Amino acid sequence: MLIYNMKNLNKQLGKKVAVIGAAGGIGQPLSLLLKLNPNVSRLSLYDIVNTPGVAVDLSHINTNSNVVGYKGQDSIGEAITDADVIVIPAGVPRKPGMTRDDLFNTNANIVQSIGQAIAKHAPKAHVLVIANPVNSTVPIIAETLKKAGVFDPRRIFGVTTLDVVRASTFVSELKGTDAVKTKVTVVGGHSGVTIIPLLSQTGINFTQEEIEKLTHRIQYGGDEVVKAKDGTGSATLSMAQAGARFTNSLLEALEGKTGIVEPSYVYSPVAAKEGVAWFSTNIELGVNGVEKIHPLGKLSEYEQKLYAEAIPELQKNIKKGEAHVNK
Ligand code: NAI
Repeated sequence: MLIYNMKNLNKQLGKKVAVIGAAGGIGQPLSLLLKLNPNVSRLSLYDIVNTPGVAVDLSHINTNSNVVGYKGQDSIGEAITDADVIVIPAGVPRKPGMTRDDLFNTNANIVQSIGQAIAKHAPKAHVLVIANPVNSTVPIIAETLKKAGVFDPRRIFGVTTLDVVRASTFVSELKGTDAVKTKVTVVGGHSGVTIIPLLSQTGINFTQEEIEKLTHRIQYGGDEVVKAKDGTGSATLSMAQAGARFTNSLLEALEGKTGIVEPSYVYSPVAAKEGVAWFSTNIELGVNGVEKIHPLGKLSEYEQKLYAEAIPELQKNIKKGEAHVNK
């Protein structure tokens, strides 16, 4: 008699995605979007609080994936074992007046401990870092994995998707273009001056005044949300959508679909000559993660100035993350 092993069947049909920080402001809507994603067969929700409730709630949605919730540090190993993709929206968000770097002291330790668990229980997983400050938390994960001898630069991603999502929206609002079809390449990092929108590459005509206003809005778009939420947090719903978009693109690439391009803050040669090892540009995703890293392309004089301003900040942020692990 043929007996189907559902566990193995699930494995063949899709991927296991683990969300770390799944009960949080980003974690919950992100988990909802992933529960709706047919490319996810097993959804593992981990947090230090409240995950069982989130998991049981989501598990009643009639899509073909299993949802399991894990609560508390003892269970992180089980939560991430066998995960193909681990998304990390864990850590504290900003309050009005804070920069992303102000979150460093709290989030650096959280991210480092998650990195240690990944090194031990899921060294082959693709790791998507949402926790801020991304410019530093990504090097923290990388250094932690390096220490454990399991670092593979093709599998570590800083999620900068929200910057291009915002850029598409803000440009389309100004120019009356279709927000879905308006593509803006954004390079650099994920904070203030390190966010470099390449408006000259959109094919849309802007005045210099429009370019400067749009650039500032894209760089500091997160502050609009922090201010509007008035002390209760930062972007969660738009971030969940951006995180779900990036996760889905990666899952499709892991399944063998080619030509999938998304921006991400990855280990990159693009700004290496400036001593900047981590940098966001468009990258092509493949079955092993990062497949091809796109170059910057032609920059306008104004964008060259933005690039020059971003470099020292990125150098500082990356060094700070690396030093946290190697102190
Ligand atoms: P939140 O406070 O609502 O949720 C964070 C969750 O992380 C909480 O449920 C908390 O219990 C959990 N957590 C704390 N320590 C943990 C640990 N050691 N292991 C597992 N889970 C842990 O915060 P929110 O709004 O969801 O933001 C999360 C992070 O994402 C923040 O650092 C924020 O700055 C960042 N963020 C990043 C963006 C990006 O574009 N990359 C955009 C917006 C926010």
